[in-house]
Amino acid sequence: MSEEKRAHWGSRVGFVLAAAGSAVGLGNIWRFPYITQENGGGLFVLLYLAAVIFIGLPVMLGELAIGRHTQSNPVGAYRSISRRWRFLGLLGVITGFCILSYYSVVAGWTLAYIVKSVNGALDPAGFGHFVAEPFTQVVYLAVFIFLTCFVVVWGVQKGIERMSKILMPLLLLLLLALIIRGLTLPTAAAGLKFYLLPDFSQISMKVFLLAVGQAFFSLSLGMGAMLTYGGYINKGDNLLKSASAVVCFDTSIALLAGFLIFPVIGHGLTKGGPTLVFVTMIEQFNQMSGGQWLAAMFFVLLAVAALTSTVSLLEVVTAYLIDEWKLSRNLSVILTGLFCFAFGVPSALSLGASDFFSSIVFGKGFLDIMDFVFGNLSLTLGGLLMCIFIVYRWGIDKASTEVLSGAPGFGRFVPVWRVLLGFVVPASIVVMLLYMIITGGSL
Ligand code: TRP
Repeated sequence: MSEEKRAHWGSRVGFVLAAAGSAVGLGNIWRFPYITQENGGGLFVLLYLAAVIFIGLPVMLGELAIGRHTQSNPVGAYRSISRRWRFLGLLGVITGFCILSYYSVVAGWTLAYIVKSVNGALDPAGFGHFVAEPFTQVVYLAVFIFLTCFVVVWGVQKGIERMSKILMPLLLLLLLALIIRGLTLPTAAAGLKFYLLPDFSQISMKVFLLAVGQAFFSLSLGMGAMLTYGGYINKGDNLLKSASAVVCFDTSIALLAGFLIFPVIGHGLTKGGPTLVFVTMIEQFNQMSGGQWLAAMFFVLLAVAALTSTVSLLEVVTAYLIDEWKLSRNLSVILTGLFCFAFGVPSALSLGASDFFSSIVFGKGFLDIMDFVFGNLSLTLGGLLMCIFIVYRWGIDKASTEVLSGAPGFGRFVPVWRVLLGFVVPASIVVMLLYMIITGGSL
């Protein structure tokens, strides 16, 4: 299925859905609600919106502009503008591979929980036991990577675009149905109050930095996923409109996920954290009539969101192997899938299945370390360098020319864009990186 001519999206809607699919993922439905819960509710939501508008949108536009201008994978893209910057593309490809390896572990849990829901075997207390079963963990990891490979092997239009056109509407439908059910619960009012009323006494540097980091992760920025997808956009399409549509889509889904999760869990009910959806939500579902089926829908929702994201991660590595190593799409996908599985096993075993991987550095598990190094550090560092590259190496004028073809009205925003990419974003990221180093670890 190797494509002789470079692939392109069939339509602008196709691109928006695929890119939104990349952006909408576990980050929206799993991570956003629990970070919000741990960091002041409504206050975090406000800061997050600010981060999305002032940091997420300009970076998204820049990344799409590099992609469409060079019509290439991250390594080829940076190299074609400046040979010395190709390392940044390579950092992106490696980051994509590494995120894919541990993200698929968590994605695999969602499949396992679909099966548990259908079998009526949901047990909130069983989570710790479940993640410590080596065989189950490895099998679900393999299944999820296989699904991802299955989509990507079909290529850009027939695989990624077609899947997105089916799965993204389904995702929205499931989400809305679950929200409506959740809003009728007695816990809804307390949950919504916590979610929507900002408590300004909670404001801190840390909450602000978390919001920036979450914006990067949630919008799939900083490692070349949007760059790669941008490379399949037709010349002459309106990048500004497309970028805004993707950002709006992703942010709306995160906010809607809040409207699902908070009414269900109420306020201050239990502790949040990463187990929010696998423990707390199940406790709640188990108390509802028909909860088993609601839970099944909920985990299908998570699995769908995760799949469209893992597909974009795999596509980055695949595009790199196709362009730079001249491999066929089939071979690229199979090789990446196999390596990714092998590399994902330590993450899969790091929640209790293997003592060694469960506390590999500083008592932290392999998956946590991977998430910190690649899901946090590497993305933000990549984003920082990308902004510097656009403004100080490629040149904001050339970047703007790319955006302007297709979006003539963009001209008046160029000065603002320059200040955001050249100063505001890099400054926020530098502060964030320093903060992470000083506090010695995750935010
Ligand atoms: N954005 C996805 C989420 O919210 C995760 C993701 C997919 C991602 N592709 C990415 C993150 C590329 C960073 C880079 O779950």
